[in-house]
Amino acid sequence: MSKAQKFIEKLELQPHPEGGYFKETYRSRGEINSKHLEENYRGNRNYSTCIYFLLTSDKFSALHKIEQDEIWHFYHGSPIRLHMITTDGIYSCQMIGPDLFNEEVPQFVVPGGCWFAGEVVNKDSFSLIGCTVSPGFDFNDFELKSRNELTELFPDLKDIITRLTHH
Ligand code: GUN
Repeated sequence: MSKAQKFIEKLELQPHPEGGYFKETYRSRGEINSKHLEENYRGNRNYSTCIYFLLTSDKFSALHKIEQDEIWHFYHGSPIRLHMITTDGIYSCQMIGPDLFNEEVPQFVVPGGCWFAGEVVNKDSFSLIGCTVSPGFDFNDFELKSRNELTELFPDLKDIITRLTHH
């Protein structure tokens, strides 16, 4: 069994629709009533949630978007290259990892509303991270778009979109 598979079993991770494996480790009991949230939430949300997220080098997490800022915490394995596209079509990327002296950061905030995707940098490897959001995660705030839909929105980024979408 690969080391990644051992981690997946030990932490009881499940496949995530964007790619990779996850398990929710925290969901606050408390809820924020939708009347106190911005209109785009359409429903109550927990104060905060947290997941383990494991990516393997043979499958990236596809470009997706959520409403809230998402805080990434690096725990173990290869660094991750995190790709982001703002709603205005500005592309940027950031390395998430332990090597502080080689442009990696152990913690990073992905701004809410931007499209983002992660890929494991090293071959035959995996990365274990944590992702915290507040208000709490809800699949109603989660959007995955196809390669064609994203390319229509951001034609200048066709190559990177082709690389970071599964379909
Ligand atoms: N819970 C299920 N999927 C996700 C996700 O992609 N991010 C966060 N933060 N929580 C989740």
